[in-house]
Amino acid sequence: MTMSRICVSFAIFLFVFLSKCYGEEYNLSGEAGQAYAIEINVGHPHQKLSVLVDTGSTTLAIASYARQDSDIYFQSKNSSSIYDSAKEVQAKYSQGMWVGRLVTDFIQFPSLPSVPEVRSDIALITKSHKFFMNGSGWQGLLGLAYLPVGAWGENVIVESWLDSLDRMLNKPMSFKLKLCGAHSAYNATHIGSFKMLEDDPITNPNTMFRTTILRKRWYEVGVISIRLIPSNASNTITNNTTFKQLTTDSDAKGGFSEVNQETCTKLNDEKSIVDSGTTNIRLPDLLFRQVVDELRNAAQASNVLILDEVWYHGEAACWPEPQEWSLPWLAVDLLNDDNDRQYFTLELPPQNYMRVVTARNSSEHSGSVSEFCYKLGLEAGGKETVLGYTAMEGFEVLFNRSAGWIGFQTSNCGPNARISGPYNFSRSLVTYCQLTRPVIDTAISIKAAQWALCVVSIIAGGVLVYLLAPCVKMMLVKQMPSSPQISLSQAALFEQESA
Ligand SMILES: *[C@@H]1O[C@H](CO)[C@@H](O)[C@H](O)[C@H]1NC(C)=O
Ligand SMILES: *[C@@H]1O[C@H](CO)[C@@H](O)[C@H](O)[C@H]1NC(C)=O
Ligand SMILES: *[C@@H]1O[C@H](CO)[C@@H](O)[C@H](O)[C@H]1NC(C)=O
Ligand SMILES: *[C@@H]1O[C@H](CO)[C@@H](O)[C@H](O)[C@H]1NC(C)=O
Ligand SMILES: *[C@@H]1O[C@H](CO)[C@@H](O)[C@H](O)[C@H]1NC(C)=O
Ligand SMILES: *[C@@H]1O[C@H](CO)[C@@H](O)[C@H](O)[C@H]1NC(C)=O
Ligand SMILES: *[C@@H]1O[C@H](CO)[C@@H](O)[C@H](O)[C@H]1NC(C)=O
Ligand SMILES: *[C@@H]1O[C@H](CO)[C@@H](O)[C@H](O)[C@H]1NC(C)=O
Repeated sequence: MTMSRICVSFAIFLFVFLSKCYGEEYNLSGEAGQAYAIEINVGHPHQKLSVLVDTGSTTLAIASYARQDSDIYFQSKNSSSIYDSAKEVQAKYSQGMWVGRLVTDFIQFPSLPSVPEVRSDIALITKSHKFFMNGSGWQGLLGLAYLPVGAWGENVIVESWLDSLDRMLNKPMSFKLKLCGAHSAYNATHIGSFKMLEDDPITNPNTMFRTTILRKRWYEVGVISIRLIPSNASNTITNNTTFKQLTTDSDAKGGFSEVNQETCTKLNDEKSIVDSGTTNIRLPDLLFRQVVDELRNAAQASNVLILDEVWYHGEAACWPEPQEWSLPWLAVDLLNDDNDRQYFTLELPPQNYMRVVTARNSSEHSGSVSEFCYKLGLEAGGKETVLGYTAMEGFEVLFNRSAGWIGFQTSNCGPNARISGPYNFSRSLVTYCQLTRPVIDTAISIKAAQWALCVVSIIAGGVLVYLLAPCVKMMLVKQMPSSPQISLSQAALFEQESA
């Protein structure tokens, strides 16, 4: 009797525990390189679709036609609750675009029972170019940014799902992304969670560092610097020159940290955004070159041999077993929200920026060999800085849209990323780094640059794969099956080179 009661309680506990851990906790997932998707129910009766959670755009946009590689799409005829405005809307990305029709219908999240079903504007994509990727498991985008970067059309304003929700609940809602990166060393599928918070108190507000949202369009923030810092691990890097330039940035001098004015001005020259719909950390070209040169030198100094194609051209490096990196960490300094003479630092271990793209154990049945491939999570971004999801993994990132700040906390999953600070600076970083210069022409820049998704970077077509590691036994030169997916990062590189 008692025993069975204990068993029952235990079973209930286990159930609750498991559903907490696995049911609610992880409602995002995605293939390597393809951002994080969540399930939504659209219309009545519910049609289940998978959409990318994208802080780099604003509109909820879903496929309404079958594509070459996928026959999952929203069948508007089946929904009894749809309202069709028949107005055309469109969006362009740095590469790729779509055209669609503005409708409204009900949206509900199976994984978020406390978030009410709400009627929202939806762009039904009727035509697209280089937008959906072959074999991607998603059928649309859930834009989470502000109205100015929504889809556009003549005399049309497309409200975001978040704004509809705020209006219905009559209070501003915040949301939290907890992105955990690869499931395990042997499974490259990444997982995470998306949560809405209203009165839900933050578990430990004291450990949260906040950065200001400088302009409410994209989530534009002040990036003070991006630099390498030595890994704490028993000084595997002996090359003394490697960090010379870098350490001067963070050395406290008379209680104040140094900030390189040229660097921080460049980083924010056009804009710096936090974008969960982009894979990599994109840096202005010169800074990319500088950071990657240093990374490459540090790797050489610690006998990690990786070809330049991997460092500079987005190719994958493969080994027969998972890698533990003895490389420096990447530090991202962000303007502090409370005090503009302070910044704090996101410290990203190599596990963040050496992104797993393939993780495959050998299999006796298919005769395939083990293969663990990585790509650099940094890329050249022209003039812009984008903190893609590579910079968010290992953190819980709270977007307080109405209050205008983004909070970072370390998380219990994913890479072992850290946060340090706040560090003091002698002057206002906003003026020193020219963080609030007026935008030249909002209308034009929004239309032309609405690239939000710009993006889901990806498994390069072709693809050589390389890598020689310290010993020859590792040498693996294997052609990956040529992937039908486009590589936006490579295309961008070509454009720059031919320009
Ligand atoms: C839509 O309706 C058609 C016919 O009524 C049905 O065959 C189809 O399965 C429905 N699709 C969905 C997604 O419910
Ligand atoms: C990898 O993890 C995902 C998510 O948990 C799971 O659905 C998938 O089956 C796993 N893949 C392999 C090969 O184990
Ligand atoms: C970093 O180094 C310090 C001192 O060398 C040590 O106490 C600390 O545990 C190390 N931290 C990590 C995460 O390795
Ligand atoms: C490293 O550099 C510092 C100053 O830049 C110098 O004082 C030190 O002797 C150097 N150490 C080695 C091992 O070269
Ligand atoms: C940084 O500035 C804050 C507030 O201006 C001050 O309280 C704190 O002592 C300073 N910290 C350092 C290390 O100087
Ligand atoms: C892959 O192989 C490793 C080592 O042989 C093993 O520990 C791991 O569980 C395997 N993973 C899967 C998903 O089979
Ligand atoms: C967002 O900021 C507002 C104003 O500072 C605050 O009242 C609210 O609690 C914050 N929301 C969350 C989820 O922290
Ligand atoms: C997608 O795959 C189809 C057939 O497999 C191919 O014809 C098409 O060119 C591919 N599209 C892209 C963008 O790679």
